[in-house]
Amino acid sequence: MTEKSPKLRGALDGIPTYKPGKPAAAGGPAAFKLSSNENPYPPLPGVLETAMDAAASFNRYPDLACTALTAELADRFDVPPEHLATGTGSVGVAQQLVQSTAGPGDEVIYAWRSFEAYPIITQISGATSVRVPLTEGEVHDLDAMAEAVTDRTRLIFVCNPNNPTGTVVGRDGLTRFLDRVPSDVLVVLDEAYIEFIRDERVPNGIELYRERPNVCVLRTFSKAYGLAGLRVGFAIAHEPVAAALRKTAVPFGVSQLAQDAAVASLRSEDALRERVAALVEERARVSGALSGQGWTVPESQANFVWLRLGERTVDFAGACEAAGVVVRPFPGEGVRVTIGEEEANDIFLRVAEEFRKEL
Ligand SMILES: Cc1ncc(COP(=O)(O)O)c(C=O)c1O
Repeated sequence: MTEKSPKLRGALDGIPTYKPGKPAAAGGPAAFKLSSNENPYPPLPGVLETAMDAAASFNRYPDLACTALTAELADRFDVPPEHLATGTGSVGVAQQLVQSTAGPGDEVIYAWRSFEAYPIITQISGATSVRVPLTEGEVHDLDAMAEAVTDRTRLIFVCNPNNPTGTVVGRDGLTRFLDRVPSDVLVVLDEAYIEFIRDERVPNGIELYRERPNVCVLRTFSKAYGLAGLRVGFAIAHEPVAAALRKTAVPFGVSQLAQDAAVASLRSEDALRERVAALVEERARVSGALSGQGWTVPESQANFVWLRLGERTVDFAGACEAAGVVVRPFPGEGVRVTIGEEEANDIFLRVAEEFRKEL
């Protein structure tokens, strides 16, 4: 008798698995990881000590409501605590947003290429992805995205700056877009990299959320704040969206370590600003050097740069790895390279220079 496997939901068939950035190989030549847009700096001052204190109590469940973190964020952003929802990284909150709004027969719109979790979380919900190609300049095509809205659309992601291109949309374009989107469609402004933006035309999504009940802002402690390994992110949204996020959260998902480290990080604003400024300076140096070598690099407002390499993508990533840095290839399209330690960036620039000569 042949045994049958347990029946799984058909919606899961063909879901692309999330590819994490490759780690730097232990003992191998690749000593630096520039593949996951992580922060190269250690935790902000005082954060490690706070997390160690919290670790002493990990026989206890964390605070389910993330009370202290919620209060700190509410105060920081001048929003009601009821409009805040925390989760296991902003990708966890993004998944809760899709689960809360879209199921079979519903559509979720996002630019493509953009953050690779969007197709995965959409499909897990059983909803349909509607991908709108980026413009030639690798920027969100907000007009085409507005035109893609149908009566089945439930949620639209706008990733600003966009992962993996680093490009941004400005206040005017975003406002025009929001004016066109029906008020019963949720627009999620994914601002995972907002701290790295220096272009003054880019709005802080919280300004837009204040005026519009269908706008939700998604933020993370993983990038500028350097807490990627602790898994904590949050959304700012009006009711009933914020309440739906609390319903769909994994109970006790955000550990006490993560909650306390996030609060301590928020209180270390000066050190954060300095580190972000140093990374932004490094970004300018790397982008300038690439342009000087003859590459066309979209202007990045995030902590990474994007090189469109087409068919040469995998070769380029291999050359980087052989030289000592792991980057993130999207085969057939390009590579995304995180701005990391100066030494790592120099290795990447040397590979880029050699490669350019061979093109
Ligand atoms: C655009 C964007 N949103 C969200 C995330 C998720 O970050 P986390 O779940 O660590 O908060 C990432 C991570 O790479 C990202 O690039």
